[in-house]
Amino acid sequence: MEKILIVDDNQAVLQALSLLLEIHGYQPVLASNPAEAVQAVMYQRIALVIQDMNFTADTTSGEEGKALFYQLRELNPNLPIILITAWTELESAVSLVKDGAADYLAKPWDDTKLLTSISNLLELGNALKENQHFRQRQRQQQAELSEKDLCGLVYGSHTMQRLVDMALQLAKSDVSVLITGPNGAGKDRIADIIQANSPLKDKPFIKVNAGALPQELIEAELFGAEAGAYTGNNARRAGRFEAADGGTLFLDEIGNLPLSGQIKLLRVLQTGEFERLGSTTTQKVKVRLISATNADLQDDIQAGRFREDLYYRLNVVELSLPPLAQRPDDILPLVEHFLPGRECSLSAERALLAYSWPGNVRELENACKRANVLHPVGVLEAEHFAIQGKNVPLQQSLEPGPEEIQQAMDKHKGVVAKAARELGLSRQALYRRLEKFELL
Ligand SMILES: Nc1ncnc2c1ncn2[C@@H]1O[C@H](COP(=O)(O)OP(=O)(O)OP(=O)(O)O)[C@@H](O)[C@H]1O
Ligand SMILES: [Mg+2]
Repeated sequence: MEKILIVDDNQAVLQALSLLLEIHGYQPVLASNPAEAVQAVMYQRIALVIQDMNFTADTTSGEEGKALFYQLRELNPNLPIILITAWTELESAVSLVKDGAADYLAKPWDDTKLLTSISNLLELGNALKENQHFRQRQRQQQAELSEKDLCGLVYGSHTMQRLVDMALQLAKSDVSVLITGPNGAGKDRIADIIQANSPLKDKPFIKVNAGALPQELIEAELFGAEAGAYTGNNARRAGRFEAADGGTLFLDEIGNLPLSGQIKLLRVLQTGEFERLGSTTTQKVKVRLISATNADLQDDIQAGRFREDLYYRLNVVELSLPPLAQRPDDILPLVEHFLPGRECSLSAERALLAYSWPGNVRELENACKRANVLHPVGVLEAEHFAIQGKNVPLQQSLEPGPEEIQQAMDKHKGVVAKAARELGLSRQALYRRLEKFELL
């Protein structure tokens, strides 16, 4: 029930209004002078105030009412206030209500008008409050995001927004994270974001790419080796786990870790302990592990190539990056990022959106760099990206065919500019195609 504060020095008025409000489902709070009114607004959740303009028996100037009005406004700028005024105070009441959520009624008030005014002002007050909360939340979210280090990640899709939110959330904890997704989708970037926003951001951040190492060397790389532990190893070497102690280890292409290495890794994750190859001395480290893979580890588990117990240790949380083609809203922001200051034609944009990007963001980055080098000036066209015909387009054909063009021309009654806009072509480009398909 919403609380309405009534401020009047006349007991009869307080009683009458109080009854009226109760009947209509409000909870009246009574104050017979400004001091009580201020107390009530300070300590109770008052939704609206109905106030008189004079509180001492022989004053009629309305000055007291004005002062109270300003005082209440200062306490709560959005608090709706209804002034009950005598004719003589009308002028100052009108000037008060000009700014903000307020209304005035002349004595003797009309109950229906008063109730209408109450419900209008309450509605307005709630809307203002909601709006304020919303804007506050928005500002807070923006401030939070801009405080974060997104490591140059560019995106426009909700999917990525959710992933980034999750990565930032995970950054605060020390749980193991497994990042999955196809080649070039941005797994490294996500790992960077987690590290850069974690409490360990100033501690060592060591990256090991298990995919780039011969299998027999992966273990030595991770855990270190005594001299002579394997052929060609002449000196003792420290492993990457030691280097990462107190910080974060990013183990990329974890699917390539041989089974013997998997057992060791599992032990490090469970106890922090391991031995260098060829050593019996146990070492202890504290390392946060982020791992990544483009393989389907479930398949590897089925095939006996990956330990299930290790899998569950690694992916306390899994961040799964979808292929670029499944988040088309990222494509144009990325193109803009990779081609700063360059302009693409609409049909080029269409082609970029329609292409399936099997190499994901890395392929897009390369296509943009190539286009920029080979065509350094002017508007970039689809053919400059050299993606046409390379791959089955996903959503729509790259180029509108004769039928599509004819349909658009019919629809727009032959107005080339309109048909071109619908087709995503420039007027000239449409003319060229009209000629080519002999549709003129
Ligand atoms: N959202 C993005 N914004 C900006 N650059 C990106 C984004 N995603 C990926 N890139 C860039 O694309 C390239 C590939 O990204 P990254 O190395 O993170 O992919 P990956 O998933 O780790 O690939 P791989 O499986 O080959 O290791 C990098 O140059 C990276 O900087
Ligand atoms: Mg990578």
